[in-house]
Amino acid sequence: MASKTSPFLFSGPVSSADKLSIVHLKRDLQIPTILKEHDEDDEGYTEGKVVNTRFGSFPHTTLIGLPWGSQVRASKVDTGSRGRRVKGQDKKRKREESVPEGPNKTPKLEDDEADASTPTTTKEESEVVAASSGFIHLLPPTPENWTSSLPHRTQVVYTPDYSYILHRIRARPGTQIIEAGAGSGSFTHASARAAFSGYPGSEGTNGSATKKRKLGKVWSFEFHEQRHEKLQKEIQDHGLEGIVQITHRDVCEGGFLVDGQSPGAESIFLDLPAPWLALPHLSRSRPPKSACGSNPASPTDDTTPFISPLNPTTPVHICTFSPCIEQVQRTISVLRKLGWVDIQMVELSQKRFEIRRERIGIANGTERGLQLTPASVDEALARLMEVEGTFKAFHENGEKVESNKKDKVNPNNREKIMESLVERKVYKEGRLVHRTEPEVKTHTSYLVFAILPIEWSEEDERKAREKWEVEMRVEDEVKVEDGGEVKMNKKARKKAAAEARKAAAAGVKAEGGDDPTEVKVEET
Ligand SMILES: C[S@@+](CC[C@H](N)C(=O)[O-])C[C@H]1O[C@@H](n2cnc3c(N)ncnc32)[C@H](O)[C@@H]1O
Repeated sequence: MASKTSPFLFSGPVSSADKLSIVHLKRDLQIPTILKEHDEDDEGYTEGKVVNTRFGSFPHTTLIGLPWGSQVRASKVDTGSRGRRVKGQDKKRKREESVPEGPNKTPKLEDDEADASTPTTTKEESEVVAASSGFIHLLPPTPENWTSSLPHRTQVVYTPDYSYILHRIRARPGTQIIEAGAGSGSFTHASARAAFSGYPGSEGTNGSATKKRKLGKVWSFEFHEQRHEKLQKEIQDHGLEGIVQITHRDVCEGGFLVDGQSPGAESIFLDLPAPWLALPHLSRSRPPKSACGSNPASPTDDTTPFISPLNPTTPVHICTFSPCIEQVQRTISVLRKLGWVDIQMVELSQKRFEIRRERIGIANGTERGLQLTPASVDEALARLMEVEGTFKAFHENGEKVESNKKDKVNPNNREKIMESLVERKVYKEGRLVHRTEPEVKTHTSYLVFAILPIEWSEEDERKAREKWEVEMRVEDEVKVEDGGEVKMNKKARKKAAAEARKAAAAGVKAEGGDDPTEVKVEET
């Protein structure tokens, strides 16, 4: 049973100590941090634990207890050796000796505590002081924020891909998901949130005494030992134990059973270099040798009983993620042989659009990003006359016209900006243009989707026929009833009439009546 709730599932309204939070510096630059009230790693800052960034330093004490999304100003932290305590000194003793008066007070560094080898100045006990510039935003841990900030051990699956994949493999609360390989755990976190429907032990707590809630789970596999260990540790730190179970295994060799038991998977995601080697293990019954491709470790040995890792009562949805088309071809070939249907390949390409107004004209001054070409003939003429006037004055009078640079008003000063916003309404000026941003982080791979239907035995067929009576479609157009009366459907009637007409035209009188088109019919 998990001992704590995961901040990925319940982040609460504010940041808190000993919980993961994401320090957002700018788009695509985020730092994951477990907030600490005290510097347990003894990094030596007088302010306690500190996050140092290119936008300034942020003592953890200034980040704890803030509503998610808060903007936090950098603090003045001496990150040089003089601002540091000596590593390994008895912190407890120091704290006892100089208990801060408020949450923003930092402990005092006494003269005699300083290392004689470091040029140290005495630090007065002081509050954490805001720096003049630099800020960050504090964000809650979500799979999306984790994907953009996690320590990369491998190439990862990014949000645009995994949101689509999870939707296509029908991952939802209560789903059993198989994932291999786990790599850096980007997909693992997203799939854990998708499958979560309660912590182990809470199955019966949905108000129903008779029907137990089905708890979703991610059955993750990774064969690289260090990656497996690191992800295992992250899953513990993030409170996802019991929702994610990671097994250290080569799935192409050992398959997907865990402790000999079937995960009963309904959704599968394979991010492996050779997914076709793992596919024979993902069958409902022992696969035939001919369907297993080149893998000698396929489960074709019939001396041991075959246990399927799949849920026998539902169709199973799979996605494989491969960067090369040759991998896709081999995967699809094996999928077909193993009975997967509805096979489809998709490539996602995400684009971000930048939309803005394009304004042209010298009158725009030096505003950033604007084109300083004349907007009209009048503007061009006025500018030419100005330049020529200066030129003429110089040659006729020898006067050097003083540069009026100094007199120029900064076009970005507050008054100018207000004037352009309120009076000129510059936001309405210009042509509305859009362009795609050149690069968006997604790992382009081919996604292969397929479905494995539930097995359909002769017994299932018999039971189904018993339960739902099947009315066979009558192919014959003409039925002869007990009394010898001929009944026809509309099509047969038309056909008979046409034939009768033909026969009449040929001088042959139709049998059974004067009118060759008269045929006894019944509407069907
Ligand atoms: C591209 S990474 C997966 C990244 C992961 N999907 C993520 O979002 O972070 C591929 C991983 O598969 C693992 N792997 C490769 N072959 C494997 C196998 N046969 N069994 C288990 N893991 C395997 C590799 O060690 C690697 O960590």
